[in-house]
Amino acid sequence: MSSFTLTRTLPADVGDDALRADVTKGLGGGPKHLPPKWLYDARGSEIFEEITRLPEYYPTRAEREILLDRASDIAAATGARTLVELGSGSSEKTRHLIDALAGLRTYVAVDVSPSALEQAGRELLVDHPGLDVHALVADFQHGLQLPSAPGPRLVAFLGSTIGNLLPAERAEFLSGVAGLLSPGDAFLLGTDLVKGERELVAAYDDAAGVTAEFNKNVLSVLNRELNADFDPAAFDHVAVWDAEREWIEMRLRAREELTAKIPSLGLAVHFAAGEYIRTEISAKFRQEGIRAELAAAGLELRHWWTDRAGRFAVSLAVRS
Ligand code: SAH
Ligand code: AVI
Repeated sequence: MSSFTLTRTLPADVGDDALRADVTKGLGGGPKHLPPKWLYDARGSEIFEEITRLPEYYPTRAEREILLDRASDIAAATGARTLVELGSGSSEKTRHLIDALAGLRTYVAVDVSPSALEQAGRELLVDHPGLDVHALVADFQHGLQLPSAPGPRLVAFLGSTIGNLLPAERAEFLSGVAGLLSPGDAFLLGTDLVKGERELVAAYDDAAGVTAEFNKNVLSVLNRELNADFDPAAFDHVAVWDAEREWIEMRLRAREELTAKIPSLGLAVHFAAGEYIRTEISAKFRQEGIRAELAAAGLELRHWWTDRAGRFAVSLAVRS
């Protein structure tokens, strides 16, 4: 018999405190920025799923191709009995792994979005009788603790969500992952690869405006959760390729001078015309960079698989 348990390690009030702290720090002075995790309320999670189906947004299709082609290699290399997925979202691509891992008993899905976890959990239970599904509402960047579950364990971080972390955050995150692994466990990482600017910018500024809606949704989160008065129509969605740092930067740029009030924080946030909030970075990677970042965290790259067009990579690493 299958089971589904949803656990919150992020009580609602702690989540609010974290949002208050991030907004005070990010909008209270200096270059304006917000951590991307606040993009994912229930509506944000829904819009992200829409993004994954856009013609311009190739990463989801490319990673799915790799997982379909390599699921049996991953199963043979890991023999995982527990699959832990960080930032699992809809768990849609993960199903190919779950199907291939013959000895899998437990799937632990970790995400900040309760609505994404609930929907993914419901769907998994239908197709995978016999699987224990633990859904954990938690921040994978802060003191992640996993429920005890049988090894070998495979920790997966798909979708290139690692690219949404700044380099120092990535180093800390990867060391945390290494700390979760015992001998025999493995880490599966999805990374989008560096490519031409035109293809990259189109993926983050689609013709239908879905990514713009995703980006502006963060203002609705601030309005609802903090009683702020941001007008999403007063901001433009901007996606810029930073060729030096090799990341896409997603911004919300004020069309004209304005002030937004956040009374619950005692903040009046002033924008000059053209001033922007950085809402997300999405770093793109190369094999040697991934190998080095893994090694610095005490992880050794064992396999590197790309899609046929060479746009995206999935790597498998173990503790070195
Ligand atoms: N892995 C899925 C979803 C990627 S979208 C895929 O490949 O399609 C990124 C997911 O990470 C979202 O579901 C979001 O809610 C979650 N997320 C973002 N920041 C997070 C954080 N700090 N801790 C936990 N989950 C986070
Ligand atoms: C979840 N993450 C890897 C996505 C990305 O491509 O950086 C989020 C996203 N932002 C805009 N489009 C998609």
